[in-house]
Amino acid sequence: MSPSCLETISRHVSIRKFRDEPVPREDLERILEAARRAPSSWNLQPVTVIAVTDKGLRRSLAEIVGGQEHVAEAPVFLVFSADYHKLLEASRRAGVSVAQPGLGHFVVAAIDVGIASGWAALAAEELGYGIVFVALYADPCRVADLLGLPLHVVPLVGLAVGRPAESPEPRPRQPLEVFAAENQYPSPIDLGDKVRSIYRGGGTKLFRYVLGPNGYYDHVARALIECLEKRGFRATAP
Ligand SMILES: Cc1cc2nc3c(=O)[nH]c(=O)nc-3n(C[C@H](O)[C@H](O)[C@H](O)COP(=O)(O)O)c2cc1C
Repeated sequence: MSPSCLETISRHVSIRKFRDEPVPREDLERILEAARRAPSSWNLQPVTVIAVTDKGLRRSLAEIVGGQEHVAEAPVFLVFSADYHKLLEASRRAGVSVAQPGLGHFVVAAIDVGIASGWAALAAEELGYGIVFVALYADPCRVADLLGLPLHVVPLVGLAVGRPAESPEPRPRQPLEVFAAENQYPSPIDLGDKVRSIYRGGGTKLFRYVLGPNGYYDHVARALIECLEKRGFRATAP
């Protein structure tokens, strides 16, 4: 009997070493079907998934994301993109004259990408595969160029899928009392200490890298804005 959704969630751990075994087509289809069933704002579904099974393409993708070997090693790498190309095509067919998509369109599609890729991840884990998410938002245009994606399509996140060749210990999460609360914001007096206690070295290095001046997400913002504009989005207020 396959595990329940909650069991699958409780066992989750990212896998970065994969066995050299292909994912059978029927399993791949079940994983993609799970992503396709995900909820979507207005049921607009501005999401497209490309299943990258070609080893040469996966090798190039691994290099684009900074030499992450698991991208080349996993037999399948699912690329999830925010996609208005097909919706603009559909609008034209419907006789609707469309404006340029902007930040609002992009944010909603990015949320849909997050949900759909999460559902794919759970389906894959339930089928006994290991997965790891891989950020594509730091250099989305190189991924789009490599895969020959049309305008108005921006790759955001990848999911490496394959049979696990490692079994790491589960990684820590914030305690429930600081992660969630009822009717109000969580308010332990030692909120900051409780949060930082779960990060290696108390979080100093990580926080400097992502929250300090000129940090990683500033780089992401510059790359994203540049790529959005290149790919036909308006990256400023309307
Ligand atoms: C949006 C997103 C982007 C991520 N990007 C990467 C990545 O580029 N490379 C990587 O090895 N792991 C990546 N991860 C995996 C996280 O590092 C991992 O989920 C986190 O450390 C917690 O570990 P766990 O999933 O084993 O519990 C990403 C996860 C998410 C949700």
